[in-house]
Amino acid sequence: MGYKVGIVGATGAVGQEFIKLLGEREFPLSELKLFASARSAGKQVEALGQTITIEEATETCFEGLDFVLFSANGDLSKKLCPAAAKAGAVAIDNSSAFRMDPEVPLVVPEINGEAARAHKGIIANPNCSTAISLMGAYPLHKKFGLKRMIASTYQAVSGSGAEAMQELEDQVKAWSAGEPIEKNVYPHQIAFNALPHVDVFLENGYTKEEMKLVNESRKIMALPDLVASCTCVRVPVMRSHSISINAEFERPVSVEEARAAIAEAQGVDLVDDPENKVYPMPLDFAGKVNCGVGRIRKDLGYENGLAFWVVGDQLWKGAALNAIQIAEYLIK
Ligand code: A2P
Repeated sequence: MGYKVGIVGATGAVGQEFIKLLGEREFPLSELKLFASARSAGKQVEALGQTITIEEATETCFEGLDFVLFSANGDLSKKLCPAAAKAGAVAIDNSSAFRMDPEVPLVVPEINGEAARAHKGIIANPNCSTAISLMGAYPLHKKFGLKRMIASTYQAVSGSGAEAMQELEDQVKAWSAGEPIEKNVYPHQIAFNALPHVDVFLENGYTKEEMKLVNESRKIMALPDLVASCTCVRVPVMRSHSISINAEFERPVSVEEARAAIAEAQGVDLVDDPENKVYPMPLDFAGKVNCGVGRIRKDLGYENGLAFWVVGDQLWKGAALNAIQIAEYLIK
């Protein structure tokens, strides 16, 4: 049996990965429809061996589709996900529009896949840093009982879309050529820099991105009382996010047991041999299905504490792959 799938935001950085992953994972497709803005409508693109004409995403374009994968922007998702659901499709949304809606499951299949089955037409895909962080934190939570989590992110420019990836490349080229550096996507130069600023600042001094990690982690792991805090930093990396996590657990921890828990967990690789300079790095995890966890050590500040480092492809586990895994979970 094949499924009819639509992609909203098909010309964007995540949209392109949706197309690639549907092919690579041999998703049982009977039809693929590509949607973007009016600017792209009418353009013909080659996708999965077919020539497909891009259509404008509108409230009436979803009839007959089984799944619609959204990655355009939050406002568009707010408007169009309900329309997709009403047309009988399952909308899997990569924006933050529905993530904290109690009626909408927020899903990482390896953690709370079952929650997806309770959907009412819309399923939210988590924030990229959250999904990747929890791929490391959740197996340790299952083993030791997570109480507190402090995260610092090192986020790739892919998280800001295709334009931002181009901006990093252009700035590096301009710098090498001794030419003036142009800034459009970020408020400061991103090449050779680090910006402690991802998404907008809120009244409490944190950014929206930082609060996503706190709130979404609680929802996905069903830990409403989890103590969590986060600092999000944009770094000049093209496409994989890294997160440094310090966590406190209910039960006594050991590095050996933590390593064993990661080694057994689905969707993560244990990459942890610091003596031989082996640890997960963003370049090694770009285009990888699994996330990597390493640098596991006792945290020096907490009694039952561990410090560890998680890396994952932002465009894949942090976005397109997780969304497709949700659809695969429902099909299974
Ligand atoms: P378009 O290329 O037509 O502008 P990225 O996150 O990489 O910047 O990509 C954003 C994606 O969202 C693109 O595919 C873009 O399409 C799409 N998009 C942006 N605004 C709209 C809109 N109002 N309606 C439909 N698609 C949109």
